[in-house]
Amino acid sequence: MTQNRAKGALRAPAPAFITVEGIDGCGKSTQARLACRALERAGYDVLALREPGGAAISEKIRALLLDPANSEMGGICELLLYEAARAQLVHEMIEPALAAGKVVVCDRFYDSTTCYQAFAGGLDRDRVRVANELAVGACRPLVTFVFDLDAQTAASRRSNRAEDRMEAKGLAFQERVAAGFRAIAAEEPARVKLIDAAREIDAIHAEVLAELRAAGFAIPACVEEAGR
Ligand code: TMP
Repeated sequence: MTQNRAKGALRAPAPAFITVEGIDGCGKSTQARLACRALERAGYDVLALREPGGAAISEKIRALLLDPANSEMGGICELLLYEAARAQLVHEMIEPALAAGKVVVCDRFYDSTTCYQAFAGGLDRDRVRVANELAVGACRPLVTFVFDLDAQTAASRRSNRAEDRMEAKGLAFQERVAAGFRAIAAEEPARVKLIDAAREIDAIHAEVLAELRAAGFAIPACVEEAGR
């Protein structure tokens, strides 16, 4: 994947861990893809992952979590399954990639658990924090992008496909998730960048690249032009 640098040579601030977050339908996966492409073109060795999933065991857990047939799943079971999927991803993929000097970009991480299971799902935030810490150990994101979009707009963007078990929790649930992400961005402004996701894809991408540059990534302007 590395194009512009000698093998083995690290580029600051790599190794680095970046996460992207937001409610369902906010456009974060598109933005994660564009950011990965820009980082690769800038010469970084990038690993793109998603949560829940990203490793064989974690993908199996994902299937359990999102299957609408599992409507009887309780909150603690749900929390522990997300954490189990995450613990395996950290162990099998994220930590080895960081040890190899890569930039890891993960579509969702522990802020999703705080927002979906605590802010929206009603679990105690301190218990969720303890569970998150158990799953990730010392593995913490350098930068987190939250793509902020109102729940109604996000729901209309994803209306052409069947709902999974989490999406079926409804609009009020998604509004509480969105409020949770805004609260986290206010609590941790140095790490968490709140991005207005109601704009055009290119404008959002340009802001993401500006934030990555501010975090120390060397991304030349020609990379941005090439992405259009
Ligand atoms: P995705 O659609 O972005 O792949 O995420 C799958 C769903 O799982 C989405 O509705 C958000 C939800 N989720 C949680 O509820 N808690 C978590 O910790 C994570 C990672 C995702």
